[in-house]
Amino acid sequence: MTARRPLIAGNWKMNGLRADGLKLVEGLIAHLREGDQPFDMLVCPPMTLVADVAAASTASTLLVGGQDCHQNEKGAHTGDTSAWMLKDVGATHVIVGHSERRADHAESSEVVKAKAGAAHAAGLTAIICIGETEDERDRGEALAVVSGQLLDSLPDGATPDNTVIAYEPVWAIGTGKTATPDDVAEMHGEIRKKAHEKLGSEANRLRILYGGSVKPANAEELLALTDVDGALVGGASLKVEDFWAIAKAA
Ligand code: G3P
Repeated sequence: MTARRPLIAGNWKMNGLRADGLKLVEGLIAHLREGDQPFDMLVCPPMTLVADVAAASTASTLLVGGQDCHQNEKGAHTGDTSAWMLKDVGATHVIVGHSERRADHAESSEVVKAKAGAAHAAGLTAIICIGETEDERDRGEALAVVSGQLLDSLPDGATPDNTVIAYEPVWAIGTGKTATPDDVAEMHGEIRKKAHEKLGSEANRLRILYGGSVKPANAEELLALTDVDGALVGGASLKVEDFWAIAKAA
């Protein structure tokens, strides 16, 4: 089996004023300095904090990413941030296609694909989020929806070095409900199988994260699953000790 180094990523969403964010990062860096860790750790703060958090993390192994980027390099797009701008202030990753953006900003997989392509062109790793809604799962469409999102959102030129997939069932996000280990194992296995259609045998190196109410109490069970290569954590990434406990379960 291909060894994949786990990635533990925190998506802070629209949370954190400057002082909170810097304190959180300080706590994580102190833990990372306790010794070599068998995982990569990434935080994705709100846009206002990316530069500060990246500056605070330069002398550590903590990675910093954005939560979204525009598909263009620059131009008349009020309120948007390009992948090149994120790279410029020290980001190494960017989340694209989070279900909250797909829902709140009507982002299609076509747009997500363009954003991931822009991230690659700027030299960032794109974390492409995919996941079904509760209705889609109830209708038995989960596998088809997720496979479709995966194939439609992966840009040409995607490799395991510039792309990470995050499977986040929409109904498990921020609800305290987690998919069962069997469901997660089945879905991650399917995602890897599908990824072979685009990436060939390189799909064996692709990191596939699980996201949706990951917390210290369920992290070990989820992260032990064969095709789960890390976690994309929302709420529990806002507390140093919870996020660290999740990482230590990897
Ligand atoms: O991107 C992370 C996410 O959507 C999961 O959020 O709060 O359920 O861990 P949460």
